[in-house]
Amino acid sequence: MDQVNSYIDSVFSKQDTLLEEVVASIKENGMPSISVSPSSGKLLTLLISISGAKDVLEIGALGGYSGICLARGFGRGGTLTSLELEEKYAELAHRNLSKAGFGQQVTYMIGPALQSLEQLVSEKRQFDFFFIDADKDNYENYLHACIRLAKPGALIVADNVLASGSIAADNAMPTRYTKIMRKFNEAVANHPQLESQLIPIGDGLTVSKVKE
Ligand SMILES: C[S@@+](CC[C@H](N)C(=O)[O-])C[C@H]1O[C@@H](n2cnc3c(N)ncnc32)[C@H](O)[C@@H]1O
Repeated sequence: MDQVNSYIDSVFSKQDTLLEEVVASIKENGMPSISVSPSSGKLLTLLISISGAKDVLEIGALGGYSGICLARGFGRGGTLTSLELEEKYAELAHRNLSKAGFGQQVTYMIGPALQSLEQLVSEKRQFDFFFIDADKDNYENYLHACIRLAKPGALIVADNVLASGSIAADNAMPTRYTKIMRKFNEAVANHPQLESQLIPIGDGLTVSKVKE
């Protein structure tokens, strides 16, 4: 799995100075280095541009790496709403999105994402693309909230669904998230409103289409 990902990154991810600076800024600010992998980021950009999504919701901003990848997919014509627990992280993410030219197109909602999602539901907001990448314990809750906020045909993407590969390998050491992610993947695969597949890139992404 690591070998396959290194190969994919080396062939398909060209040097990207802006994203490298984002990674450096995250380290300089003492934040964890847990942004999406370059290949996962590129896939997010592609999925948004292929689907034509314009109203995008991200759960878990960190320093703005995935935010920039999402915004690159919609270019000038879309908006990103990003939910982040830590104010300091959202501030760095906003600085990085501004550097990338998307500062005016992103809104951060600070605080526990479940509360922000409730607020968005009560405001009757709707989105056509969701990226779930925050606390793993709440992934299923996030999935259900995203379905409530989805326009028909919307895409819902979730990261880290292979839990460092521990999900699939019988002899791998289970991580803190192995059980949670197994349950999450079952829920995604069997949800009556979703058509889904798991893409083993980076730490694994589920991609679901909300049935029309
Ligand atoms: C894996 S990082 C996100 C990485 C980001 N998507 C990227 O690839 O650039 C997870 C983020 O979720 C945030 N987070 C954790 N628990 C949260 C919660 N309950 N509500 C909102 N954000 C949360 C963390 O502060 C962290 O910034």
